[in-house]
Amino acid sequence: MRPPARGGRGGRGFGGRSDGGGRGGRGGRTPRGRGRGGGGRGGPGMKGGSKVVVVPHKHDGVFIAKAKEDALCTKNMVAGESVYGEKRVSVQNEDGTKVEYRVWNPFRSKLAAAVLGGVDNIWIAPGARVLYLGAASGTTVSHVSDIVGPTGLVYAVEFSHRSGRDLVNMAKKRTNVIPIIEDARHPAKYRMLVGMVDVIFSDVAQPDQARILALNASYFLKNGGHFVISIKANCIDSTQAPEAVFAAEVEKLKLEQFKPSEQVTLEPFERDHACVVGGYRMPKKPKAT
Ligand SMILES: C[S@@+](CC[C@H](N)C(=O)[O-])C[C@H]1O[C@@H](n2cnc3c(N)ncnc32)[C@H](O)[C@@H]1O
Repeated sequence: MRPPARGGRGGRGFGGRSDGGGRGGRGGRTPRGRGRGGGGRGGPGMKGGSKVVVVPHKHDGVFIAKAKEDALCTKNMVAGESVYGEKRVSVQNEDGTKVEYRVWNPFRSKLAAAVLGGVDNIWIAPGARVLYLGAASGTTVSHVSDIVGPTGLVYAVEFSHRSGRDLVNMAKKRTNVIPIIEDARHPAKYRMLVGMVDVIFSDVAQPDQARILALNASYFLKNGGHFVISIKANCIDSTQAPEAVFAAEVEKLKLEQFKPSEQVTLEPFERDHACVVGGYRMPKKPKAT
């Protein structure tokens, strides 16, 4: 277990401006779940000058900044820079070296919401190669970039040119992010850019998202690799109860050689959203003799 890093001053981010995010001022609520965290609008209550201790979360590459309120965070790949106005905290290790962390807001990132919702494994860890579908302007991608670190890679696919501009600018400073401005329904168009990956994270919010994930997996996901998909019920069928939509999506995934292993709700951060995690073309377990 790594020793906790102790923060001196709260640092630039904490107690300063908030990330301007949150959703309609809900950020003041204390998130629930394992690895409790904060960091909604108005900040996690870590004022400049207060002591902050950063401890590893159970997911490798994810951390918790502990102060008056806890906040989920990732180790900043590009120290000194925020990506979307998020708070930062600088802490000093016992050996005197400084490390900077960026607060990861679950109201702005479904992956952070899933982590706080207690998901067992996100499979995104230091050194992992990740294909990220639905990158938008790169808010969550930047945290995935922090988690996988310099030995990992994030291929980030987004078809909106407007969001893509921010994504490309963010990737200029983050050498482990490869932005791809293409439609994820046509992976053949970017097959020359993407290698085999360990994990696909999908957040395209489209009715055919299971098919989009399956298509990309057939090109790029290694056998025995993993997927993480965010499902927004009313993007798929607004006439059905969310639980029925989630169950139907899980069935579609099973037909495409995915083996879903867990499902968490993204409440209270996102309404009627679930995150499903599992394996792809999993090796058969040898029968016990
Ligand atoms: C819910 S947002 C993603 C938010 C992002 N994952 C984050 O956490 O910051 C969905 C994104 O998927 C993109 N998208 C939807 N369909 C797509 C497709 N077929 N190919 C590529 N991007 C797509 C949208 O333009 C939008 O930016």
